[in-house]
Amino acid sequence: MKKKQSNKILNCTGKNHIAKAVKLIKAGGLVAFPTETVYGLGADATNDEAVACIFDVKKRPYFNPLIIHFSNLSSLAATVELNRLAEKLALAFWPGALTMILPRKNNCPVSLLASAGLETLAVRIPNHKTANALISAAMTPIAAPSANCSGEVSPSRAEHVWQSLGDKVEIILDGGPCKVGVESTVIDLTSSNPTLLRPGGIVLDDIEKIIGPVSLSDGSKNKIRSPGMLDRHYAPSIPLRLNANKARPGEAFLAFGSRANSHHVNLSHRGDLKEAATNLFAMLRMLDQPNFKGIAVMKVPSVGLGVAINDRLKRAATPL
Ligand code: TXA
Ligand code: MG
Repeated sequence: MKKKQSNKILNCTGKNHIAKAVKLIKAGGLVAFPTETVYGLGADATNDEAVACIFDVKKRPYFNPLIIHFSNLSSLAATVELNRLAEKLALAFWPGALTMILPRKNNCPVSLLASAGLETLAVRIPNHKTANALISAAMTPIAAPSANCSGEVSPSRAEHVWQSLGDKVEIILDGGPCKVGVESTVIDLTSSNPTLLRPGGIVLDDIEKIIGPVSLSDGSKNKIRSPGMLDRHYAPSIPLRLNANKARPGEAFLAFGSRANSHHVNLSHRGDLKEAATNLFAMLRMLDQPNFKGIAVMKVPSVGLGVAINDRLKRAATPL
């Protein structure tokens, strides 16, 4: 059920709204903010209590570490050991939808709770004006998972954050719909063998063009290295049925491409994967209605951004 629109949603073109958000971050509060991928639920990454609040509000298990967001490379270099591959990827894709796992520096100021006690840290520089304005004005790294309850469909619009978290977050900065629409690609660079932990907004082929072959993490290893990669995730409250050609009685239908009936909700009529990624979470939320028995989803090709889309769909379809 949709909750009433909140007066917590602030249009982020207003400069004083950023100032208000910065004040809240500095005081240990939580601010939801837009990035190019999905909305994040941000807190001062150096403040243990503020970081603990993120886990509480999201009902996120403490073993699932958070991504730390920076506005520039120099502030990031103070917290993690950059290596040659990381520097190449930073040059090619930052700011952007890429998260790198790197070793923490000895005197890294980021809360250990944020990285679930691991000796590594997930870091990213987002490509979004509001995110960057917030992070640079706060003058501290911002820990931010997606701004939804753990396991639910991620938020790609300010109102999704309000629907998921409601009163639990004091300020939601509204930057409109997220352009990429799926989360960042997560790559582990802590060994000489770079490994993809989560497909996302930057496609693997483009990464391999810069640093050569990247391994795909196998399920069991992945569980230890990136405990957040839970099987069931991004899930609506009703069942999802994949690779469907049409809806069964009582089901909603989520189409892809021009073969679909024109009155269906369609991730992209022209079969454009970028458009499909942008629409994915908003359309899943739209069809997640109690009057439907489930959502039947048409096949999406597993190439380019389709890999990230299918990863989210597969996890969303995993039964409880
Ligand atoms: O696009 C995104 O990445 C969004 C926006 C807000 O930046 N954030 C996001 O955060 O998706 P979250 O918390 O939903 O996903 C973070 C992922 C999790 O799967 C987590 O397990 C992994 O990153 N991760 C974080 N720190 C890690 C670490 N030290 N080692 C391995 N995986 C890590
Ligand atoms: Mg998430």
